Amino acid sequence: MLDLTPDRSQLDPIEIASIDEIRGLQLQRLKASLAHAYENVPHYKKAFEAKGVHPDDLKTLSDLSKFPFTFKSDLRNNYPFGMFAVPQDKVARVHASSGTTGKPTVVGYTANDIETWADVVARSIRASGGRPGMKAHIAYGYGLFTGGLGAHYGAEKLGCTVIPISGGMTERQVNLITDFKPEIIMVTPSYSLAILDAFRAQGIDPRDSSLQVGIFGAEPWTNAMRKEIEDAFDMHAVDIYGLSEVMGPGVANECVETKDGLHIWEDHFYPEVIDPATGDVLEDGEEGELVFTSLTKEAMPVVRYRTRDLTRLLPGTARTMRRMEKITGRSDDMMIVRGVNVFPTQIEELLLRCEGLSAHYYVELSREGRMDEMTVFVEANPAHADEVQREAQRTMLGGLIKDMIGVSARIVVADPDSIERSMGKARRIIDKRGEL
Ligand code: DLL
Repeated sequence: MLDLTPDRSQLDPIEIASIDEIRGLQLQRLKASLAHAYENVPHYKKAFEAKGVHPDDLKTLSDLSKFPFTFKSDLRNNYPFGMFAVPQDKVARVHASSGTTGKPTVVGYTANDIETWADVVARSIRASGGRPGMKAHIAYGYGLFTGGLGAHYGAEKLGCTVIPISGGMTERQVNLITDFKPEIIMVTPSYSLAILDAFRAQGIDPRDSSLQVGIFGAEPWTNAMRKEIEDAFDMHAVDIYGLSEVMGPGVANECVETKDGLHIWEDHFYPEVIDPATGDVLEDGEEGELVFTSLTKEAMPVVRYRTRDLTRLLPGTARTMRRMEKITGRSDDMMIVRGVNVFPTQIEELLLRCEGLSAHYYVELSREGRMDEMTVFVEANPAHADEVQREAQRTMLGGLIKDMIGVSARIVVADPDSIERSMGKARRIIDKRGEL
């Protein structure tokens, strides 16, 4: 793989400013952002008053802990535009989450917000190893989802040639990669596996493709998956994180030279990690729920937004700004199986250790009598799919899950190509326990 470390002279100066400078900027911006939310969004005025706080009470960054949290339900209760802090004619764009349950959550951007967003995504692509003049194949979905357009504007801002293909039509993805020769691909990790299969089905070795770096996010993925993808494509695989309520992709990104967790772009997004049960702020290094307060957003400022994503904050390395560890999962994705907490990422890590198993998998939960049953469905690779090999794979994966996680799981090693491919975020859990 090529060394794609950016030259330090190309970075935004704030990325490598001193901690004191970053904290000073954050405090100044945080005061302004809290005041903006309080003065212009009735929900925040009410919530601040209910907690007996006023924006003027913020004297230091740690005073933020006195302010109320914001939940997804607050956005739903103010559907569609009630959380906006500017008049509608200043809202240049809206996006929305698909919302599998209930109403979608709607988010808005002013023209300045769109610029800021493009800046942080450009910064993210550069941290990933992208450069002006490279071609960026964008296979995140375009539309209300923030992935496609967020990546698009950032790649344009960096000076890339953008190929806005969106998700789907997997064979065509392979044709365009082969013909247009992009250096960068931006896609969910699970959809990249579908593209990988399509390369192989067409008899093309993905290692011969032009791709040098993949920028993967929108769903949890493990370091084991990184290795799988890097080996298959002979390219760097770097993690990008974000959520629509806070902005979209580009809230945090890994640096290609270290790949040791994601630097949070702290000049725009102030992170806290809290104990999800008590709401107490945890020390850096402790695992809990990630919470964000926007520092510069105009159309829809968010104050202490509860992401439900579980991680921990770590000191900066390749940049001064703090890192977050790769996300373990969302608290909603935590399965409790016979009293043991299990995340799909733990299963992913283990199944990729088993020779001959692919990274296409999902977990089904069911109830037999009073007992929860967990079944892992995973595909065998075509070259390792005879019955003897599958029996060995079942035994190995079942043993690893029992030893490392502490639960017994049923393992189904499915035929190659039999598990449904996702074009965006993969669905890893099917919970049938409520269906009895
Ligand atoms: O998924 C934004 C995005 C698009 C990020 C493209 C990266 C790339 P939402 O649809 O609002 O926005 O979903 C946000 O997805 O709270 C996490 O649970 C999950 N997520 C996003 N990025 C990562 C990541 C976009 N790198 C939700 N690792 C978040 C793990 C991620 N989970």
